[in-house]
Amino acid sequence: MTDALGATTTAMDVVKGRDLTGRRALVTGGYAGLGYETARALASAGAEVVIAGRDAHKLKAAVASLSEATGNPHIHGMLLDLANLASVRQFASDFQARFPKLKYLINNAGVMACPLSRTADGFEMQFGTNHLGHFLLSGLLLPVLKAGQPGRIVFLSSGGHKYSPINFDDLNFEHTEYDKWKAYGQSKTANALCALGFDRRYRDQGIRSFAVHPGVIFTDLARHLTEEDFKAFESKDGKEGQRGKLVIKTVEQGAATSVWAAIAKELRGEGGLYLEDCHAAQQVEEGVQSHGYYEYAMNPRQSDRLWRFSERLVGWKS
Ligand SMILES: NC(=O)c1ccc[n+]([C@@H]2O[C@H](COP(=O)([O-])OP(=O)(O)OC[C@H]3O[C@@H](n4cnc5c(N)ncnc54)[C@H](OP(=O)(O)O)[C@@H]3O)[C@@H](O)[C@H]2O)c1
Repeated sequence: MTDALGATTTAMDVVKGRDLTGRRALVTGGYAGLGYETARALASAGAEVVIAGRDAHKLKAAVASLSEATGNPHIHGMLLDLANLASVRQFASDFQARFPKLKYLINNAGVMACPLSRTADGFEMQFGTNHLGHFLLSGLLLPVLKAGQPGRIVFLSSGGHKYSPINFDDLNFEHTEYDKWKAYGQSKTANALCALGFDRRYRDQGIRSFAVHPGVIFTDLARHLTEEDFKAFESKDGKEGQRGKLVIKTVEQGAATSVWAAIAKELRGEGGLYLEDCHAAQQVEEGVQSHGYYEYAMNPRQSDRLWRFSERLVGWKS
């Protein structure tokens, strides 16, 4: 691992010198963007990697290219649609039948700023996919995580959590006018609160959980953005490698903090942290956009409240 870790560290830098042979990782959304790069780094260090996604063709192609790129034959693809809780249950059951232990669960898949739509179970798409799907998945995989402990769960949150806290009065935009950014923000706040919730409940059983802001990276996540959305990110003095005040990372850099959260020796004994640029981030005042997290995203009471709502919504109890 490199000495000075930061915004320009890549996922491959993070695994440098590490031998992850015999360790199993699961990466949701592992056939594209940050998930693919996360899987590539872990597999190149020898880990057995399961990538989970909803498109069988993309899964097959990614398994083949990951195996070829890393020389690691222990890469598997499994179907998972996080926008359908029956699929999450089926996946968890299939996974446990196939694999007795899991060490790293990287809850990476996500959808951003889509038009108002609903999951198979009727939840607002971003809250349902990004949060509820991963909440249920993590809960159902606890037996294999416990069998593989010490282990870690990584929840991909985002600086986008700053768009919104959890709206407990209307989680699903049933009465509130839909705002695609508030919905994304709520779902990413939920990811951070969920990391806190899992860490507080399962740390004593050898499972530590972290929230990660990967940075800003151009991937297919932007598939729903309009020209206006892109313009809103721009400023007149944008420099190369930057767009407005946002520093843009490469995909290789964007995957670094996820991999670091999963395997860093520096994080032994830690958990319930919000990480960015391969460091623990600081809480910042609301209004600060460039770094850090808002208080509501790592608030234990908010986390407990969301936990209770989520248990009821997905029908799983800790
Ligand atoms: N890129 C950024 O700047 C940025 C910044 C902050 C946080 N993040 C977070 O980082 C994570 C990865 O984002 P990315 O940039 O790598 O995006 P990406 O390239 O769009 O990858 C997202 C992955 O999630 C999958 N996915 C979406 N809906 C799914 C569902 N219902 N079931 C299963 N898989 C589903 C996608 O599969 P399909 O191709 O089948 O849709 C894709 O594989 C997300 O959680 C995102 O919120 C990204």
